[in-house]
Amino acid sequence: MSQLSTRHLLGIRDLTSEDIALILSTAKQFKEVINRPIKKVPSLRDITIANLFFENSTRTKLSFELAEKRLSADVLNFSASGSSVSKGETLIDTANNILAMKVDMVVMRHPHPGAAEFLSQKIDATIINAGDGTHEHPTQALLDAFSIEERLGSLQGKKVAIVGDIVHSRVALSNVFCLQKSGAEVMLCGPRTLMPKHAESLGVQVSHHLEEALEWCDVANMLRVQQERMDKGYFPSIREYSMQYGLTMEKLKSVNRDLVIMHPGPINRGVEITSEVADSEYSIILHQVENGVAVRMAVLYLLAQKA
Ligand code: CP
Repeated sequence: MSQLSTRHLLGIRDLTSEDIALILSTAKQFKEVINRPIKKVPSLRDITIANLFFENSTRTKLSFELAEKRLSADVLNFSASGSSVSKGETLIDTANNILAMKVDMVVMRHPHPGAAEFLSQKIDATIINAGDGTHEHPTQALLDAFSIEERLGSLQGKKVAIVGDIVHSRVALSNVFCLQKSGAEVMLCGPRTLMPKHAESLGVQVSHHLEEALEWCDVANMLRVQQERMDKGYFPSIREYSMQYGLTMEKLKSVNRDLVIMHPGPINRGVEITSEVADSEYSIILHQVENGVAVRMAVLYLLAQKA
């Protein structure tokens, strides 16, 4: 198989295991390309891509833009702040006005779950979800899977603990789907207040003790506490959260194995992870960012074949 089963990338839930394997193997080839002296290929020379960001981003936005430029696409960048959204223009009107400029693909980040799927039903362009509220962040999960495979050789049978603010995390949900479809086992770990009510129904293990998760896993993916999405007190204080769920070198060393430590960013240093751990040899955080470009090139390249 050399084509994806889907025309859009709305979530990992919609992908098959074969789709994921195809994206990861294609990304491997693109990683070789971007490490050459000449990093650009002409694959998307006739394609125009609009990056619509209705919510803040550093990594995803820059990474998509670089991936598009490495593939020689024409790129339009749109941020909601400073746009006519502040004058009341709707998502559909914004998208249709951009499409009138003959855009083939849309990469969109939006605060509302389901926004990417909604757009895919309303406009005639390939849609890539760059994070929709607390729902999915498919390219983050794909780059996480790629980075684990690169470090450990395979995802098959690996144990991945996702730790922290699970209930507000689109990264967690996309990672669960992506890892399970790739043959890995998943444990979700965090306080009861930050755990979705029916987490077990996802086919994962659930723990409320970081030490237990660290004993179990090969890889720990530490998530940020998303205070901007919290409308009430989910834990007594940041200090208390950090004592219970923050990853320190002392806790990491108490496990007598070398674990792989990940974080999707942005990091709250000293809250979910100390600087000592984030910057240590166990951490692959900057490899995740590097791999994001190759993975997004693969997604854009494969979806452009279906456009
Ligand atoms: N990991 C991630 O999505 O980071 P940004 O919010 O900076 O894009």
